[in-house]
Amino acid sequence: MAPTAASVALATQRLHAGELVAFPTETVYGLGADAGNPDAVHRIFAAKGRPSDHPVIVHIGNMAHVDRWAREFPEGARRLASAFWPGPLTLILPRAAHVDDAVTGGQDSVGLRMPSHPVAQQLLAAFAALGGTGIAAPSANRFGHVSPTTAQHVEDDLGDAVAMILDGGACAVGIESTIVAFTGREPVLLRPGGIGVVALAGVLGRAPSAPGTDSPRASGTLASHYSPHAPTQLVASGDVLQEVARRTSRGERVAVLAHTAVRPAGFTGAWVAAPVDAPRFAHVLYASLRTLDTPGVQAILIEAVPDEDAWLAVRDRLSRATD
Ligand code: TXA
Ligand code: MG
Repeated sequence: MAPTAASVALATQRLHAGELVAFPTETVYGLGADAGNPDAVHRIFAAKGRPSDHPVIVHIGNMAHVDRWAREFPEGARRLASAFWPGPLTLILPRAAHVDDAVTGGQDSVGLRMPSHPVAQQLLAAFAALGGTGIAAPSANRFGHVSPTTAQHVEDDLGDAVAMILDGGACAVGIESTIVAFTGREPVLLRPGGIGVVALAGVLGRAPSAPGTDSPRASGTLASHYSPHAPTQLVASGDVLQEVARRTSRGERVAVLAHTAVRPAGFTGAWVAAPVDAPRFAHVLYASLRTLDTPGVQAILIEAVPDEDAWLAVRDRLSRATD
């Protein structure tokens, strides 16, 4: 549904009534429920087919709402929030006592994010005006599948399970938020994403640490996540054409996502020519995987991306999408 004032108001009422509303954010589409209503949050898990011990991010529209969810807002987290909110950053903070286990997955922490997409902001503001304290929302895909970056993707994955989908166009960032946990002594990078490590380090004074065994669990960090249905494989840049030729000569139906390799004459399968810079590549990544992942395709081949900092989040998602 187009995001008019009337449809946002309707979406807000649906949330207030405990129903699920999918909405656009600058990263990916979220599957939203009233974060203060455990029954509504449980509906998210049923709709996604997601194990119920996985925590969900609470989306807020106002910095003053952090205290409703977190019992501490450490200095480093405050600095990141003022630098990057609203935007593609999630902070994991010690949870306030009242926060339900449905939201936290039973952990002693809560994930908070203030999205910058105007429709998400309108929805959050309207929901707060009805007394709502936050919108719990994981990515609006079936569990383990590629995250949705258009309203149509949400419809394809979860159309029957949601009361409403607000259509805010294609998501600008295209991959999920960066997640930084402030639950131990040092900030920990749980998931690379829309905000790069260099930008985080610029604000924190040093890069966040890698997760250790005592870091909070994050489902997006499971080794196989964000996957297409067809077997998906990374191929070194220089080997793409040879690998395509080898497989097609055996009669295999392959689909290709390449950013430097050029489609060979005579190749009849699906081929997506992706942008050569990391942010634009990220923007098209999930939509491209969905385009390539059609019935009958025996393998999706993805040209490996550069081993540079700017590509960290894209490399992370590619390594999870591939076998
Ligand atoms: O960009 C995004 O973050 C999108 C949009 C919709 O905001 N949301 C998203 O949600 O990617 P989801 O549920 O697909 O991934 C959220 C990640 C999961 O890996 C979850 O485990 C982690 O955040 N997470 C949430 N709360 C947490 C907590 N209290 N402790 C540790 N990890 C948490
Ligand atoms: Mg997800």
